[in-house]
Amino acid sequence: MNSSGKIDVLVSEVGPRDGLQNVSRVMPTAIKHRWIAALARAGLREIEVGSFVSPKLLPQMADTDEVVREARKIEGLTVLALAPNGKGAERGIAAGVHKLNFPVSASRAHSMANIRMTPEQALDEVRQACALCKTLASDKRPSVEAGISTAFGCAMEGAISEDWVMELAAGLVEAGAESVGLSDTAGCANPVQVKRMFARLRREIGDRAGAAHFHNTRGQGLANVVAALDAGVTTFDASQGGLGGCPYAPGATGNIVTEDLIALLESMGLRTGVDLEALLAAREILAQGLPGEPLYGHVHAVSTGKHG
Ligand code: COA
Ligand code: ZN
Repeated sequence: MNSSGKIDVLVSEVGPRDGLQNVSRVMPTAIKHRWIAALARAGLREIEVGSFVSPKLLPQMADTDEVVREARKIEGLTVLALAPNGKGAERGIAAGVHKLNFPVSASRAHSMANIRMTPEQALDEVRQACALCKTLASDKRPSVEAGISTAFGCAMEGAISEDWVMELAAGLVEAGAESVGLSDTAGCANPVQVKRMFARLRREIGDRAGAAHFHNTRGQGLANVVAALDAGVTTFDASQGGLGGCPYAPGATGNIVTEDLIALLESMGLRTGVDLEALLAAREILAQGLPGEPLYGHVHAVSTGKHG
């Protein structure tokens, strides 16, 4: 993989987590290993490989411990996994993740539906996880990141107060999070709002301002990327083939498509370190692992001469 070259923008692949958690079928563990290895070979330097959540709720993620251990063998790859609580953090530490990603929802209704905690309780889980991580030797200590879900609006609650989002972000930094990103979980953000909120996030928490996580539910994902770039964001989540969807918006596509994001950034002269051909090859493994599952992407359609 091209891990040595300098990059301008870090694309963090979240397909194996955000994508697969929203697909009802379970991708076999061996195919997850092959897919993640192929994504890394294409030059992706950070991959969220799964989540340490209740396997009863999300059987798609039950093998995350094993997936992390395998992904850790890939040289130069930062292995990320989502954890909602202390138990998730402990599992992540035991498996050897480099980074733990805590979802903290700004919407109370979404927070309760998703993790059965209030935003304040979720914040407290981050605080405890950070305290736990501090007790570990540096080679076993993951960094803790947080993503504020529903930061731009919620399918259940509607508009979300920007002041409250910023208050949460400051609270997460105070709790020890090394970076705090904003997530458009409902896919309802627009570029004006995105630019305003990321600029404000940077004013509030400085260089702890983290990744932009956009869903392409209404086709505005890449427009939001350009707006976030204008506000100084340098890390973007994306999922191969736009895998996923949204339980609250039937028929909706998932995250912004990694292939399309790479093509956009490179065409703007921003180096990502990712080889598009190799990325399209990784997509074949994904398609084999989930036969019949709808995958999206304009770059792929152009490369094959057909949509899908
Ligand atoms: N990993 C594995 N199992 C876990 C766990 C974790 N991180 N956290 C809790 N559990 C288990 C408990 O051990 C317990 O198991 P048992 O029934 O065998 O005793 C069970 O889950 C319930 O534990 P509890 O602490 O009462 O959790 P809960 O029922 O209130 O659920 C969450 C809270 C966070 C575990 C659950 O809502 C969840 O996993 N949500 C994730 C949803 C998600 O991934 N959304 C998308 C990503 S943002
Ligand atoms: Zn998401």
